Amino acid sequence: MKVAILLLAALAAQSLAEPQIYLKEEFADGDAWESRWIESKHRSDYGKFRLHAGSFYGDSEKDKGIQTSQDAKFYARSIKFEQFNNEGQTLVIQFTVKHEQNIDCGGGYIKLFPSNLDQEDMSGKSPYYIMFGPDICGPETKKVHVIFSYKGENHLIKKDIRCKDDEYTHLYTLIVHSDNKYEVKIDNKKVESGTLEDDWDLLPPKTIKDPNAKKPEDWDDWEKINEPNHAQPEDWDKPNTIPDPNAKKPDDWDDVIYGEWDPPMIQNPEYKDEWQSHQINNPSFKGNWVHPEIDNPEYTPEINMYRYDNIGVLGLDLWQVKSGTIFDNFLITNDVKYAEEYGNQTWGITEAGERKMKEKQEKEKEQKEERTEKEEEVEKVDKHEDGGMDTHKYEL
Ligand SMILES: *[C@@H]1O[C@H](CO)[C@@H](O)[C@H](O)[C@H]1NC(C)=O
Repeated sequence: MKVAILLLAALAAQSLAEPQIYLKEEFADGDAWESRWIESKHRSDYGKFRLHAGSFYGDSEKDKGIQTSQDAKFYARSIKFEQFNNEGQTLVIQFTVKHEQNIDCGGGYIKLFPSNLDQEDMSGKSPYYIMFGPDICGPETKKVHVIFSYKGENHLIKKDIRCKDDEYTHLYTLIVHSDNKYEVKIDNKKVESGTLEDDWDLLPPKTIKDPNAKKPEDWDDWEKINEPNHAQPEDWDKPNTIPDPNAKKPDDWDDVIYGEWDPPMIQNPEYKDEWQSHQINNPSFKGNWVHPEIDNPEYTPEINMYRYDNIGVLGLDLWQVKSGTIFDNFLITNDVKYAEEYGNQTWGITEAGERKMKEKQEKEKEQKEERTEKEEEVEKVDKHEDGGMDTHKYEL
C-alpha cells in the first residue's frame, strides 16, 4: 500500500513537474560571465568576446550578450553546468543570435559537450554531442546546422534549413523528443521537424539491394529498335569529298620538281548524312529492370538515438571573418512550453524595440546625408553668384 501511494505521488509529481532548467545564461551580472565562460587555451590567438548590447537594441541592459569583437578570428569559450542525461525526456536547446554587422562569413552555432570536456583545450577537434545553429558564408551557405554525434561519428541533417541573414536578433530552438522526433524553430516558429531516423543517416538503411538478384542476361531493355524493313540502301555510302573532275594538270607542272600532280578535293554533291533507320517500339521490351530489395541484415532499430549521457558543457567554437555577432539568452531545458515562453520574454520583447531603433538610426542617417547634400548645393550656388558679381563689376 505504501509503495502504491509513493508511486502515485511520484507519478503526480512527474506530471506536474517543474521544468528542469539545466542552463540559463542572459549575461545580467556585469563582468561575472568572464569567470563562467572559460576561454580555451588550445590556440593563443582567439578573438575576444565582449559584453555588449550592440549599436541598436530594445533594452540597453537586458540586451547585453557576448559579442565577437575582432575580425578574422577563431572564438572559443564554454560554460559548464550540472551534468544530466536526457533519457525519457525532451531536450530543448535555445539561444539568440544577432548578426548586427551584416555578416559575410561566420558561425553562429553552439556545441553541446559531455561534462568531461577539457574546457581549456576545447577546439574544433573536441568531440561533441550536438551542434546547432546558423552558419553563413557568402551567398551560398546560409543554413542552420543540426549535427548529432552517434557512435562516435558526426551526422549532418539531410534537410536544408535556411537561417536568417539580416541584422536583427533571432531565436533558434532545437527540440529533441525521447521518441526520436525533433523540431527546429526560428523566432518561435517551426521551420523543420521529423524523425532522427529519417532526417539523419544515423542507422544503416532498412533495406538494401538483394546481392543475389541479377539482371537476367536476356532482359531486353531497349525500348526502341530499328525498323527491320527500313535497311540502309546499298548505294548510300558516298565519300564526303572527291577529286575535282574539272581540275586540269597545269601545262608547266614538273613531276620531277613538284612530284606527281593530284587534283584538288571538293565536296561530293552525292554525299549523304549517316543513314537513320526508322525507329519502332521493341516488341520484346521488358521495361527497366528494378533491382529487388531485401531487409538489411546490418539494420537494427534503435530506440535511444536521442539519448546523451552526462551532458555538461555548452560551447561557442567558431570562426568569424566579420565580427559583431551577439549571442544571448542561452537556455537548456526539458520543457518546450517554458522555452517558448522564455523566447517570448527575451527575443519576443526585444525584437520590436531593436527594429524601431535601427529604423530610426537609418532615417537619421538619411536625413543627415540629405542635409549635407543640400548644404553643398547652397555653397555651389553662393560661389556662382560671387562669380557673377565679379563679372558685373568688371563690365562696369
Ligand atoms: C508566445 O508568443 C506568441 C505570440 O504572441 C503566442 O502565440 C504564444 O502563445 C506565446 N507562448 C507562450 C508559451 O506564452
